[in-house]
Amino acid sequence: MPTGTERAQFVREMFDRIAGRYDLLNALMTCGLYRLWNRKAVRVAALRPGDRALDLACGTGSLTRDLAKAVGSGGSVVGVDFSPEMLRIAAARPLPNIEYRLGDATNLENIPSESFDAATISYGARNIPDLDALFSEMARCVKPGGRVVCLEITRPQGVLFGAFYGIWFDKIVPRLGGVISGDRRAYSYLPESVKEFVAPGKLAEIMERNGLRDVTWWKLAGGIIALYRGTKRR
Ligand SMILES: C[S@@+](CC[C@H](N)C(=O)[O-])C[C@H]1O[C@@H](n2cnc3c(N)ncnc32)[C@H](O)[C@@H]1O
Repeated sequence: MPTGTERAQFVREMFDRIAGRYDLLNALMTCGLYRLWNRKAVRVAALRPGDRALDLACGTGSLTRDLAKAVGSGGSVVGVDFSPEMLRIAAARPLPNIEYRLGDATNLENIPSESFDAATISYGARNIPDLDALFSEMARCVKPGGRVVCLEITRPQGVLFGAFYGIWFDKIVPRLGGVISGDRRAYSYLPESVKEFVAPGKLAEIMERNGLRDVTWWKLAGGIIALYRGTKRR
């Protein structure tokens, strides 16, 4: 797997290539459960009508749209992604209170500090090698007391879910993804990136050392998904 700037380029080009099939594959591979996990992420972000939310690595905008519904017409959401093609798909389903921007989640040049009530990232963190840069940017952008929420795939510990996971992610996902997207490499990268990703305790430590407190995580779907939340110090 490439590292540093080469990794970023590899990831961006890969998402540009699979953008057109991403939503279909996401629905198939999670059996539609991603909607439920999105809803939990919105709930722990504790948004109220009129709030402002920032959704990083927003991709085709599935969590972005759920956040937009939670903040209502008096609130707003900014979705940021570095793949123009993923953003093009997101923009095809516009909502008046969402603005999509092309940008790097580890260097949010045009986003003022302390301007959001919550910042989220779903299934993006595992693609980002510099997690300190990611969480320091997320912490910078939220107001004191604001929430930083991360939803990510993780490796389950139990024997039963571990066995299911091994078959599903390591064998079926690359084949199914390869056939439907025409890009087997992209869907082999998915289990590889999950294996490489830090354990929940380590991710919580990274969030804490970047200005977040009360970091908590919940395991969903038998431990296949982890949902993290930290709050910016007042
Ligand atoms: C697996 S998709 C997740 C998309 C969306 N959040 C969802 O829940 O479906 C990962 C996304 O992260 C984006 N991404 C990866 N690294 C990024 C970075 N450094 N800055 C911005 N976007 C990034 C990719 O372009 C891709 O759209």
